[in-house]
Amino acid sequence: MALLDKTFYLETFGCQMNAHDSEKVIGTLLREGYRQVETEVDAALILYNTCSIRDKAEQKVFNRLNDYKALHKQGKRFAVLGCVAQQEGEKIFERAPYVSLVAGSASYRKLPEMLVQLEAGNNRIAGLDDRQTDQTFETEFTARGNKHRGYITIIEGCDKFCAYCVVPYTRGKERSRTSDSVLTEARRMADAGYTDIQLLGQNVNSYRDSSGKMSFAELLVAVGHVAGIRRVRFTTSHPRDFTRDIVDAIDAVPTLCDHVHLPVQSGSSRVLQRMQREYTLEWYLERIAWIQAARRPISLTTDIIVGFPGETEEDFEQTLSLLAQVGYDAVFAFKYSARPNTPAISMEDSIPEEVKSRRLQALLEFQREIQRTLYSRHIGEIVEVMVEGNNPARGQVSGRSSQNKVVNFTVDSPIYPATGTYMLVRITQSFPNSLLGEAVILGQPSAISAGEEICVV
Ligand code: 5AD
Ligand code: SF4
Repeated sequence: MALLDKTFYLETFGCQMNAHDSEKVIGTLLREGYRQVETEVDAALILYNTCSIRDKAEQKVFNRLNDYKALHKQGKRFAVLGCVAQQEGEKIFERAPYVSLVAGSASYRKLPEMLVQLEAGNNRIAGLDDRQTDQTFETEFTARGNKHRGYITIIEGCDKFCAYCVVPYTRGKERSRTSDSVLTEARRMADAGYTDIQLLGQNVNSYRDSSGKMSFAELLVAVGHVAGIRRVRFTTSHPRDFTRDIVDAIDAVPTLCDHVHLPVQSGSSRVLQRMQREYTLEWYLERIAWIQAARRPISLTTDIIVGFPGETEEDFEQTLSLLAQVGYDAVFAFKYSARPNTPAISMEDSIPEEVKSRRLQALLEFQREIQRTLYSRHIGEIVEVMVEGNNPARGQVSGRSSQNKVVNFTVDSPIYPATGTYMLVRITQSFPNSLLGEAVILGQPSAISAGEEICVV
């Protein structure tokens, strides 16, 4: 059955890498003459860009496919992209026979050819054969969803093979772009009006310039110096590859945001070893000490897995102690989820679901109190905020600080500032996950009183 027309609906699940892949896929589809629509019902081609990091994320996609499968009878076609596609492969055609195209992220370069097959009526198109590729998915047709903040993938895949993690199997081996191509993209984005750049990679700091010119820290500095760029972030860093020169770079270049996301996963060296994380708690804490010794206060955030096979109460207590010791500004905590192909799936001593739930709940409550204290320390500070949106019902503007904290604030003007504007905000109140303040009007000498610290990037 040939495609009804060239309209498509695309929905993204999962991480920022996936979100950015979707921007590239959308750009490719538009280039091939397709038109994007807002709902499944309006589209001839329905694409889901999927995540398989945890069982729940994977389940979501099959639920979504199930919700809309009746549309197939109207001649609409379905495509499954991303990590579930790569992991499950052609099995998806059996589980959801109305799906016509299954493509993992390493085969997106072949999308135009796959679309031609789809248009011709082929109902079993699979792009799954490229996991060991050396190539990255780069395209000049990226359809960026935000006019001010944009992603640049600098490294794809992962060679670390942590015992719980599906990424090396879904995204293939590690491959970096050249620093020249990253800088060309950054300059092009700056010329197009982008001021905020986020460098992406599953292990962003494992970056190895394939032309051998720059280290990761040198690349950060170079992107930070691109004219017009005001903020540079990078995610996600792996502790194993976290070098001191990254902290030096942040200290030296004000456009590099004062925030590092450094997933630890567990505060117990015993669990870290079982997870095959390739570092101990001491190793991790040494990197935290470098970051905390920086001249600028650098915000730290992390990821934690609770209930990894064999995690004892004592191990879990060590994780809580680590949270208290470091003082993270945000923690993304997950219950361990057994993933296909990973070594941990066959480990003994699995933790009962109710224990995992109890630990997760306890950890989140513990962390909330830590954040309550940490966020209250910002009261009285003046921070620079990039405006992301307005909430007229509450009379508030919202945005993020360089530390990546959500800041809601009032403005003394009937006209709300445009998104992408940078404003100074005096913090007046704090909550465990956000700050509240008021815009500081520049040019009023009284706005900033003597002795106040101004955190401006
Ligand atoms: N189960 C639970 N959480 C996981 N993560 C990765 N794999 C799993 C899994 N199998 C978490 C890690 C990682 C984050 C992106 O997702 O904490 O840093
Ligand atoms: Fe999910 Fe990992 Fe794939 Fe991102 S790379 S979509 S987190 S499985």
